[in-house]
Amino acid sequence: MIQKQINTTIEIYDSVTELPDDIQKLMKRAVDARESAYAPYSKFMVGAAIILDNGEVVKGSNQENASYPSGLCAERTAIYAAGANYPNQKIKAMAITATSVKHDVLEPIAPCGACRQAIAEYEQKQDEPIEIYFTGTKGKVIHVKALLDILPLAFDNKFL
Ligand code: THU
Repeated sequence: MIQKQINTTIEIYDSVTELPDDIQKLMKRAVDARESAYAPYSKFMVGAAIILDNGEVVKGSNQENASYPSGLCAERTAIYAAGANYPNQKIKAMAITATSVKHDVLEPIAPCGACRQAIAEYEQKQDEPIEIYFTGTKGKVIHVKALLDILPLAFDNKFL
């Protein structure tokens, strides 16, 4: 038996205003995207904004359903919209933000496991990392330089 350590480096910014200008702009688009969230059940609104190589921004928000599992997270709504509308454009970065009707979200909201898997697919497709920035309603922002940094031992098409 051997033991192996898997290390991940994350960057933590104190607030959105510390981010590079282009990423602040992207985060603002993610905040805009939150407005289109359809979250009557959880009252938890998530917005995601993706910047492509050609400078286009693709937005997504969570879309819930009375049949709960049929709903979709903001990150997958955004990444699938990018894949469907700009299949040949590389994805540079995704910004994610969340708020709630019930309370301010004070911790950075990391993408769920299913969304990480979905984003990882596009990272593999384009053979270049996708930077991820995530925050709450306000406060700290976490940055990772690649999706795979937060999905170690990922399942991918090499196993098929
Ligand atoms: N949600 C997202 O949009 N992204 C995540 O990464 C986690 C959760 C949504 C799904 C659901 O509409 C609500 O947040 C509560 O889970």
